[in-house]
Amino acid sequence: MSLFLTFEGPDGSGKSTQIQLTAQFLANLGYDVLTTREPGGTPIGDQIRTVLHNVANTAMCAPAEVLLYSASRAQLVHEVILPHLKNGGAVVCDRYADSTFAYQGYGRGLEAEMLHLITQFATQGLKPDLTIYLDLDPAQGLKRKQHANSAGAGEWNRMDRLELDFHQRVRAGYLEMAQTEPERWLVVDATASIETVNQTIRRRLEQYLIAPQ
Ligand code: TMP
Repeated sequence: MSLFLTFEGPDGSGKSTQIQLTAQFLANLGYDVLTTREPGGTPIGDQIRTVLHNVANTAMCAPAEVLLYSASRAQLVHEVILPHLKNGGAVVCDRYADSTFAYQGYGRGLEAEMLHLITQFATQGLKPDLTIYLDLDPAQGLKRKQHANSAGAGEWNRMDRLELDFHQRVRAGYLEMAQTEPERWLVVDATASIETVNQTIRRRLEQYLIAPQ
């Protein structure tokens, strides 16, 4: 049985570490695991990512932003995710359409109905089986990321520069989405230790694999 798992969470929440650990866990269960990320994950998507995250692109309007994220997603679904799922594999994706609802919807204030239409078109209707949200106060997340960036690690992108209020709205949006669809979402306190966060994720995955929704 194929599995499509996505990770969401503010920058600096430890997503990359948890993705790696979870991919390893699924591989140990016998899955053919593919990890990927948004925006990007394909040669075309990576070019779109460069445009999206270029801090010089301050003139980018919100509709252009959402269409670029969606274009990258459409290519990723078509080229990478759907073929792997069709072969019975597991896909672990760092961000997916929920990022658009959170950042462009709750954050930028774009209409949810329009975002649903665009997302449906871009993804061919593909939704994750499970979505893990690593919850962290955005102030803390940005501080961690800024710190890593000044130490020469990670990327400081166009979205990171937005005001704290924006990131607070994004967080509230994630928590609301998780509440309205609890069977798909798992919210984890990202301030807990790496091992505790990972155990919580593994437990939920085991439950899902025994009795998929
Ligand atoms: P990351 O690769 O460091 O997670 O950065 C991706 C950034 O792009 C992050 O700030 C969230 C943002 N983003 C959106 O605003 N909308 C989207 O649809 C996606 C996938 C990401």
